[in-house]
Amino acid sequence: MALASDLDEPHDSVREPVLSIRGVSKGFGAVRALTDIDLDVYPGEVVALVGDNGAGKSTLVKILAGVHPADSGVITFNGAQVSIPSPTESRELGIATVFQDLALCDNLDVVANLFLGRERGGFMVDEELMEQQAWELLRQLSAKIPSVRIAVASLSGGQRQTVAIARSLIGEPRVVILDEPTAALGVAQTAEVLNLIERLRERGLGVILISHNMADVQAVADRVVVLRLGRNNGVFRTSDVSYEDIVAAITGATDNPVSSRSAAQSSEKDAE
Ligand SMILES: Nc1ncnc2c1ncn2[C@@H]1O[C@H](COP(=O)(O)OP(=O)(O)OP(=O)(O)O)[C@@H](O)[C@H]1O
Ligand SMILES: [Mg+2]
Repeated sequence: MALASDLDEPHDSVREPVLSIRGVSKGFGAVRALTDIDLDVYPGEVVALVGDNGAGKSTLVKILAGVHPADSGVITFNGAQVSIPSPTESRELGIATVFQDLALCDNLDVVANLFLGRERGGFMVDEELMEQQAWELLRQLSAKIPSVRIAVASLSGGQRQTVAIARSLIGEPRVVILDEPTAALGVAQTAEVLNLIERLRERGLGVILISHNMADVQAVADRVVVLRLGRNNGVFRTSDVSYEDIVAAITGATDNPVSSRSAAQSSEKDAE
Protein backbone atom coordinates (compact mmCIF):
# COMPACT_ATOMS: atom_id res chain seq x y z
CA MET A 1 0.00 0.00 0.00
CA ALA A 2 1.27 3.44 -0.86
CA LEU A 3 1.84 5.68 2.10
CA ALA A 4 0.30 9.12 1.98
CA SER A 5 3.78 10.62 2.08
CA ASP A 6 4.71 8.64 -1.05
CA LEU A 7 1.76 10.12 -2.89
CA ASP A 8 2.96 13.59 -1.93
CA GLU A 9 6.30 12.98 -3.62
CA PRO A 10 6.84 15.18 -6.63
CA HIS A 11 6.65 13.38 -9.95
CA ASP A 12 10.39 13.66 -10.60
CA SER A 13 11.47 11.72 -7.55
CA VAL A 14 9.29 8.75 -8.52
CA ARG A 15 10.42 8.59 -12.13
CA GLU A 16 13.69 6.76 -12.74
CA PRO A 17 16.41 8.29 -14.88
CA VAL A 18 17.17 6.28 -18.01
CA LEU A 19 20.84 7.23 -17.66
CA SER A 20 22.61 8.06 -14.45
CA ILE A 21 26.29 8.91 -13.98
CA ARG A 22 27.88 9.06 -10.53
CA GLY A 23 31.40 10.08 -9.65
CA VAL A 24 32.88 9.60 -13.11
CA SER A 25 36.52 10.69 -13.48
CA LYS A 26 38.85 10.55 -16.45
CA GLY A 27 42.47 11.62 -16.91
CA PHE A 28 44.70 11.77 -19.95
CA GLY A 29 48.21 11.51 -18.51
CA ALA A 30 48.61 14.55 -16.29
CA VAL A 31 45.38 16.20 -17.55
CA ARG A 32 42.33 15.69 -15.29
CA ALA A 33 39.67 15.95 -17.98
CA LEU A 34 36.80 14.93 -15.66
CA THR A 35 36.62 14.77 -11.86
CA ASP A 36 33.73 13.18 -9.99
CA ILE A 37 30.98 13.99 -12.52
CA ASP A 38 27.29 13.32 -11.77
CA LEU A 39 24.58 13.53 -14.44
CA ASP A 40 21.02 12.19 -14.78
CA VAL A 41 18.87 12.01 -17.89
CA TYR A 42 15.17 11.13 -17.64
CA PRO A 43 13.02 9.68 -20.41
CA GLY A 44 11.41 12.46 -22.45
CA GLU A 45 13.88 15.04 -21.18
CA VAL A 46 16.39 17.27 -22.97
CA VAL A 47 19.48 17.94 -20.85
CA ALA A 48 21.87 20.58 -22.14
CA LEU A 49 25.50 19.92 -21.30
CA VAL A 50 27.34 23.24 -21.34
CA GLY A 51 30.76 24.55 -20.41
CA ASP A 52 33.70 26.45 -21.83
CA ASN A 53 36.25 24.98 -24.23
CA GLY A 54 38.09 22.19 -22.48
CA ALA A 55 35.46 21.82 -19.73
CA GLY A 56 35.18 18.10 -20.46
CA LYS A 57 31.91 17.84 -22.42
CA SER A 58 33.27 15.80 -25.32
CA THR A 59 35.23 13.58 -22.96
CA LEU A 60 32.01 12.75 -21.09
CA VAL A 61 30.24 12.05 -24.38
CA LYS A 62 33.09 9.80 -25.51
CA ILE A 63 32.83 7.80 -22.28
CA LEU A 64 29.10 7.28 -22.92
CA ALA A 65 29.76 6.46 -26.59
CA GLY A 66 32.31 3.79 -25.63
CA VAL A 67 35.24 5.67 -27.18
CA HIS A 68 37.14 6.16 -23.89
CA PRO A 69 36.75 4.12 -20.70
CA ALA A 70 36.14 6.07 -17.49
CA ASP A 71 38.90 5.74 -14.85
CA SER A 72 36.32 5.49 -12.06
CA GLY A 73 32.66 6.06 -11.29
CA VAL A 74 29.38 4.29 -11.92
CA ILE A 75 27.13 4.44 -14.99
CA THR A 76 23.57 3.14 -14.65
CA PHE A 77 21.43 2.61 -17.74
CA ASN A 78 17.82 1.46 -17.58
CA GLY A 79 18.26 0.74 -13.88
CA ALA A 80 21.29 -1.56 -14.27
CA GLN A 81 24.94 -0.74 -13.70
CA VAL A 82 26.79 -0.98 -17.02
CA SER A 83 30.26 -0.71 -18.48
CA ILE A 84 30.66 0.72 -21.97
CA PRO A 85 33.89 -0.73 -23.37
CA SER A 86 33.22 -0.05 -27.06
CA PRO A 87 31.04 1.98 -29.45
CA THR A 88 29.19 -1.21 -30.40
CA GLU A 89 28.25 -1.86 -26.77
CA SER A 90 27.14 1.75 -26.36
CA ARG A 91 24.80 1.39 -29.37
CA GLU A 92 23.56 -2.01 -28.23
CA LEU A 93 22.72 -0.60 -24.78
CA GLY A 94 20.56 2.03 -26.47
CA ILE A 95 22.80 5.10 -26.57
CA ALA A 96 23.03 6.83 -29.95
CA THR A 97 25.71 9.48 -30.39
CA VAL A 98 25.73 12.00 -33.21
CA PHE A 99 29.26 13.40 -33.30
CA GLN A 100 29.94 16.84 -34.65
CA ASP A 101 31.52 15.62 -37.89
CA LEU A 102 28.34 13.53 -38.52
CA ALA A 103 30.30 10.82 -40.40
CA LEU A 104 27.98 10.85 -43.42
CA CYS A 105 29.09 9.56 -46.82
CA ASP A 106 28.71 12.54 -49.14
CA ASN A 107 28.58 10.56 -52.37
CA LEU A 108 25.78 8.24 -51.17
CA ASP A 109 22.09 9.11 -51.11
CA VAL A 110 19.94 9.60 -48.00
CA VAL A 111 18.63 6.00 -47.93
CA ALA A 112 22.13 4.55 -48.21
CA ASN A 113 23.38 6.81 -45.41
CA LEU A 114 20.49 5.89 -43.12
CA PHE A 115 21.14 2.17 -43.49
CA LEU A 116 24.91 2.31 -43.82
CA GLY A 117 26.53 -0.67 -42.13
CA ARG A 118 23.17 -2.35 -41.46
CA GLU A 119 22.81 -4.17 -44.78
CA ARG A 120 25.41 -6.77 -43.87
CA GLY A 121 25.04 -10.54 -43.78
CA GLY A 122 25.14 -11.23 -47.53
CA PHE A 123 21.36 -10.82 -47.92
CA MET A 124 19.91 -9.07 -50.93
CA VAL A 125 19.20 -5.52 -49.91
CA ASP A 126 15.55 -4.59 -50.32
CA GLU A 127 15.98 -1.10 -51.74
CA GLU A 128 12.25 -0.42 -51.93
CA LEU A 129 11.68 -1.36 -48.30
CA MET A 130 14.64 0.74 -47.15
CA GLU A 131 13.30 3.69 -49.12
CA GLN A 132 9.85 3.30 -47.51
CA GLN A 133 11.42 3.08 -44.05
CA ALA A 134 13.56 6.13 -44.79
CA TRP A 135 10.49 8.19 -45.71
CA GLU A 136 8.59 6.91 -42.67
CA LEU A 137 11.43 7.84 -40.31
CA LEU A 138 11.84 11.30 -41.83
CA ARG A 139 8.06 11.82 -41.70
CA GLN A 140 7.98 10.94 -38.00
CA LEU A 141 10.66 13.55 -37.44
CA SER A 142 8.77 16.09 -39.59
CA ALA A 143 12.03 16.38 -41.51
CA LYS A 144 12.21 18.54 -44.60
CA ILE A 145 14.25 16.49 -47.05
CA PRO A 146 13.32 16.98 -50.72
CA SER A 147 14.23 13.45 -51.82
CA VAL A 148 15.75 10.37 -50.20
CA ARG A 149 17.46 9.56 -53.49
CA ILE A 150 19.75 12.58 -53.64
CA ALA A 151 23.39 12.49 -52.58
CA VAL A 152 23.96 13.80 -49.07
CA ALA A 153 26.57 16.19 -50.52
CA SER A 154 23.78 18.26 -52.05
CA LEU A 155 21.84 18.69 -48.77
CA SER A 156 22.03 21.79 -46.57
CA GLY A 157 23.79 21.66 -43.20
CA GLY A 158 20.47 21.33 -41.34
CA GLN A 159 19.29 18.56 -43.65
CA ARG A 160 22.57 16.71 -43.16
CA GLN A 161 22.15 17.02 -39.39
CA THR A 162 18.63 15.64 -39.79
CA VAL A 163 19.91 12.63 -41.73
CA ALA A 164 22.56 11.98 -39.06
CA ILE A 165 19.95 12.18 -36.27
CA ALA A 166 17.50 9.99 -38.22
CA ARG A 167 20.24 7.42 -38.72
CA SER A 168 20.96 7.35 -34.99
CA LEU A 169 17.30 6.43 -34.36
CA ILE A 170 17.33 3.27 -36.47
CA GLY A 171 18.77 1.18 -33.63
CA GLU A 172 15.83 2.33 -31.40
CA PRO A 173 17.95 4.04 -28.77
CA ARG A 174 16.65 5.34 -25.44
CA VAL A 175 19.21 8.13 -25.18
CA VAL A 176 20.45 10.33 -28.01
CA ILE A 177 23.56 12.49 -27.58
CA LEU A 178 24.00 15.42 -29.94
CA ASP A 179 27.39 17.15 -29.97
CA GLU A 180 26.97 20.78 -31.14
CA PRO A 181 24.19 19.99 -33.65
CA THR A 182 23.54 23.64 -34.53
CA ALA A 183 27.11 24.99 -34.45
CA ALA A 184 27.42 25.41 -38.23
CA LEU A 185 23.79 26.25 -39.01
CA GLY A 186 21.87 29.36 -40.01
CA VAL A 187 18.73 30.62 -38.27
CA ALA A 188 16.13 28.59 -40.19
CA GLN A 189 18.16 25.40 -40.14
CA THR A 190 18.81 25.79 -36.41
CA ALA A 191 15.05 26.08 -35.86
CA GLU A 192 14.57 22.88 -37.86
CA VAL A 193 17.08 20.97 -35.75
CA LEU A 194 15.56 22.33 -32.51
CA ASN A 195 12.18 21.10 -33.76
CA LEU A 196 13.71 17.74 -34.39
CA ILE A 197 15.03 17.63 -30.82
CA GLU A 198 11.48 18.29 -29.60
CA ARG A 199 10.26 15.33 -31.69
CA LEU A 200 12.87 13.14 -29.94
CA ARG A 201 11.60 14.30 -26.55
CA GLU A 202 7.99 13.56 -27.59
CA ARG A 203 9.08 10.03 -28.47
CA GLY A 204 10.17 9.61 -24.85
CA LEU A 205 13.88 9.62 -25.56
CA GLY A 206 16.40 11.15 -23.21
CA VAL A 207 18.45 13.73 -25.08
CA ILE A 208 21.85 15.15 -24.14
CA LEU A 209 22.48 18.33 -26.11
CA ILE A 210 25.95 19.84 -26.11
CA SER A 211 25.84 23.46 -27.14
CA HIS A 212 27.69 26.73 -26.79
CA ASN A 213 24.55 28.57 -27.92
CA MET A 214 22.53 29.67 -24.87
CA ALA A 215 19.55 30.69 -27.03
CA ASP A 216 19.29 27.11 -28.31
CA VAL A 217 19.73 25.75 -24.79
CA GLN A 218 17.00 27.99 -23.39
CA ALA A 219 14.71 27.20 -26.34
CA VAL A 220 14.80 23.45 -26.08
CA ALA A 221 16.41 22.10 -22.88
CA ASP A 222 14.49 21.11 -19.73
CA ARG A 223 17.61 21.20 -17.57
CA VAL A 224 21.10 22.59 -17.95
CA VAL A 225 24.14 20.79 -16.54
CA VAL A 226 27.23 23.00 -16.33
CA LEU A 227 30.76 21.63 -16.41
CA ARG A 228 33.71 23.81 -15.47
CA LEU A 229 37.33 22.65 -15.52
CA GLY A 230 36.17 19.04 -15.60
CA ARG A 231 33.82 19.32 -12.61
CA ASN A 232 30.09 19.79 -12.11
CA ASN A 233 29.37 23.48 -11.60
CA GLY A 234 25.60 23.63 -11.30
CA VAL A 235 22.39 22.00 -12.51
CA PHE A 236 19.47 24.26 -13.37
CA ARG A 237 15.89 23.94 -14.59
CA THR A 238 15.84 26.03 -17.76
CA SER A 239 12.58 27.64 -16.68
CA ASP A 240 14.13 28.90 -13.41
CA VAL A 241 17.49 30.17 -14.61
CA SER A 242 18.58 33.32 -16.39
CA TYR A 243 21.10 33.57 -19.18
CA GLU A 244 23.40 35.47 -16.79
CA ASP A 245 23.28 32.69 -14.18
CA ILE A 246 24.24 30.06 -16.75
CA VAL A 247 27.10 32.22 -18.02
CA ALA A 248 28.28 32.81 -14.44
CA ALA A 249 28.31 29.05 -13.79
CA ILE A 250 30.19 28.40 -17.03
CA THR A 251 32.85 31.04 -16.36
CA GLY A 252 32.94 30.56 -12.59
CA ALA A 253 32.51 34.28 -12.00
CA THR A 254 29.78 36.84 -11.82
CA ASP A 255 32.13 39.64 -12.91
CA ASN A 256 32.74 38.45 -16.46
CA PRO A 257 32.11 40.90 -19.34
CA VAL A 258 28.86 39.25 -20.46
CA SER A 259 27.13 39.22 -17.09
CA SER A 260 28.55 42.56 -15.93
CA ARG A 261 27.38 44.16 -19.19
CA SER A 262 23.86 42.86 -18.66
CA ALA A 263 23.98 43.88 -14.97
CA ALA A 264 25.00 47.37 -16.06
CA GLN A 265 22.10 47.46 -18.51
CA SER A 266 19.58 46.42 -15.88
CA SER A 267 20.91 48.92 -13.33
CA GLU A 268 20.63 51.63 -16.02
CA LYS A 269 17.02 50.56 -16.44
CA ASP A 270 16.53 50.71 -12.64
CA ALA A 271 17.98 54.24 -12.58
CA GLU A 272 15.52 55.45 -15.22
N1 LIG B 1 42.59 12.24 -26.14
C1 LIG B 1 43.02 13.18 -25.30
N2 LIG B 1 44.30 13.20 -24.87
C2 LIG B 1 44.74 14.14 -24.01
N3 LIG B 1 43.98 15.12 -23.49
C3 LIG B 1 42.71 15.17 -23.89
C4 LIG B 1 42.14 14.22 -24.80
N4 LIG B 1 40.84 14.52 -24.99
C5 LIG B 1 40.59 15.61 -24.25
N5 LIG B 1 41.70 16.00 -23.57
C6 LIG B 1 41.77 17.14 -22.63
O1 LIG B 1 40.71 17.02 -21.72
C7 LIG B 1 40.15 18.29 -21.41
C8 LIG B 1 38.67 18.30 -21.74
O2 LIG B 1 38.51 18.28 -23.16
P1 LIG B 1 37.12 18.10 -23.90
O3 LIG B 1 37.41 17.89 -25.35
O4 LIG B 1 36.32 17.07 -23.20
O5 LIG B 1 36.47 19.54 -23.67
P2 LIG B 1 35.11 20.15 -24.25
O6 LIG B 1 34.31 20.60 -23.10
O7 LIG B 1 34.50 19.21 -25.21
O8 LIG B 1 35.65 21.45 -25.04
P3 LIG B 1 35.13 22.14 -26.41
O9 LIG B 1 33.97 23.01 -26.04
O10 LIG B 1 36.30 22.95 -26.83
O11 LIG B 1 34.78 21.06 -27.39
C9 LIG B 1 40.98 19.30 -22.20
O12 LIG B 1 41.96 19.81 -21.35
C10 LIG B 1 41.57 18.47 -23.32
O13 LIG B 1 42.78 19.03 -23.76
MG1 LIG C 1 34.11 19.24 -27.27
